[in-house]
Amino acid sequence: MSPRTNLWGIPALLLAGAWASLTAGCLAEIGDPDATPQLKVDSGVEPDAGFLPEDAGTPDAGAGPVLVEDLNTLPTSTRCVDLGPGEVPLAVSPEGHLWLGTSTTGATLVRVLDGWDAAAEQHYRFQVGAMTRVQAWTSTSASFIADGKLYHAVDGLRTEVTVTATLSADATLCGDPTEKAFVYSGGTLYQRDGDAWYVWEGIDDALSTDARILSRDGACFGADDGVWFASADLELWQLGSNELRRPAHRDGASQPVLLHDTPMVLAGGNLLVGPMPWTEYTFEHGAATAMASAGDYVWIQAGDRVLRFDGTTFMLVRGSAGALFPHASGGLWVTGGGQACHFAPQAMLRVEGVSTGAQQIGDTFSLEVRASDEAATVDVALDGAPLTARRVADGWFVYGGALELGWHRLAVTTPAAQVSRTVLIKRLPAVERSFATDIAPIYTTHCAGCHYDGNTFGAPDLATVEQWRNLADKIHRRVVEAKNMPPVASRLPEWGEDEVTVINEWLSGGLLP
Ligand code: HEC
Repeated sequence: MSPRTNLWGIPALLLAGAWASLTAGCLAEIGDPDATPQLKVDSGVEPDAGFLPEDAGTPDAGAGPVLVEDLNTLPTSTRCVDLGPGEVPLAVSPEGHLWLGTSTTGATLVRVLDGWDAAAEQHYRFQVGAMTRVQAWTSTSASFIADGKLYHAVDGLRTEVTVTATLSADATLCGDPTEKAFVYSGGTLYQRDGDAWYVWEGIDDALSTDARILSRDGACFGADDGVWFASADLELWQLGSNELRRPAHRDGASQPVLLHDTPMVLAGGNLLVGPMPWTEYTFEHGAATAMASAGDYVWIQAGDRVLRFDGTTFMLVRGSAGALFPHASGGLWVTGGGQACHFAPQAMLRVEGVSTGAQQIGDTFSLEVRASDEAATVDVALDGAPLTARRVADGWFVYGGALELGWHRLAVTTPAAQVSRTVLIKRLPAVERSFATDIAPIYTTHCAGCHYDGNTFGAPDLATVEQWRNLADKIHRRVVEAKNMPPVASRLPEWGEDEVTVINEWLSGGLLP
């Protein structure tokens, strides 16, 4: 078993919107008879500011939709490839490899096109029925569900990943199923962590069987540390380290996507960017009918046009209609009318070495970046601070550096070509800290004198793990960053950097009980 098998500990599933009931679920390891699922119901828990009422997210009455008109055109080149008989698009990798599949008796034939290189084409033959929910990682690797089983394929060799249950054809997944991943299938949530699969108990109280995981370029997590789900009637749920909460419900909406940590949906031909409050956009040239996200952009089919949206600005890509398969390196495949067409802005950005959403224990990173336009300058910043390339070889710019604990944002941009790409990376603590063993003693010695229930000087009660979790961001700010808690004047001589480190490790390590 890996040292981090119980990363998420015993999570409390907090049903937001119905905050009278707090349901503590538990992770049962599959095949482990001792891991008895427990389900506990508590009540009387106060919602904190993060928990929104059920009807949150209805646009403010009066604030009408913003009209999107007079768009600048994104300079793009187009290249089209004819599809074979029965050939359908399956998925696109973050680097722009379009996976196409043709079902034959007893096998699926796969052709992989490369958005960067018209000449590159790969062919595979998988001995499986229809491949559903394909997550393409590169030109040579993908994870997919077929015949009720989960597979991971590398260089055309497929490996069955053992989940004991048969998965439904509309099961969804995020992450690398050989290491760290989630699979949601017909009301059951499976989590892979290291060598073990876990099943979440109690999740079916909240999530409907038709819900699906919203991944971000295949990754489960973004900087919000949450895994997002959307049900068919557009209830959006977010699974944090210890709770499942419903940030929004939007009846009648469709096509939910995440742009980083921001959910977006289509409703009545308009785009809604949410969730609290929803901002609504309406389109001059016709209703929005399709939407897909990748990297730093959402791509929208509105009328007979495709638009690119970065969360602030819309750009016109060009007139075109079909299924949208954008990729994080900045381009877009559109399939339809017997063709797959690739739209490439002036420069696209390819990244190697770090994949977004990655969680690592090591304290350094190395990132390689290449622009499709060799003349384009590439800028890379870590949490806003510009980095200098360590070396340049064969068009690849190599960057590296040290990482503090927690999430970090690597922003890659080509200023001239208006293309950007964000890579999120998290450094996990090497030591696993738990509340009971590591935090409770620090609380008793250094905080309890002030942070107790009913104190009259405004120090919030911090006696329980739930209270620490609810105030996790503020504890990080006051104890780790500003270092003004405990107040300097009242510190015991025993307070020091070790205590700050332990608290930081617990905060960034999953808030274990
Ligand atoms: C001597 C009393 C005292 C001690 C000891 C103390 N605190 Fe505080 N703390 C306060 C008071 C009073 C406030 C409210 C005023 C403020 O925000 O500064 C506060 C505020 C905070 C806040 C901000 C809460 C919010 O909602 O903004 C955090 C977080 C915090 N303390 C964490 C801690 C932790 C963790 C410890 C122990 C390691 C600790 N404090 C020790 C008195 C104390």
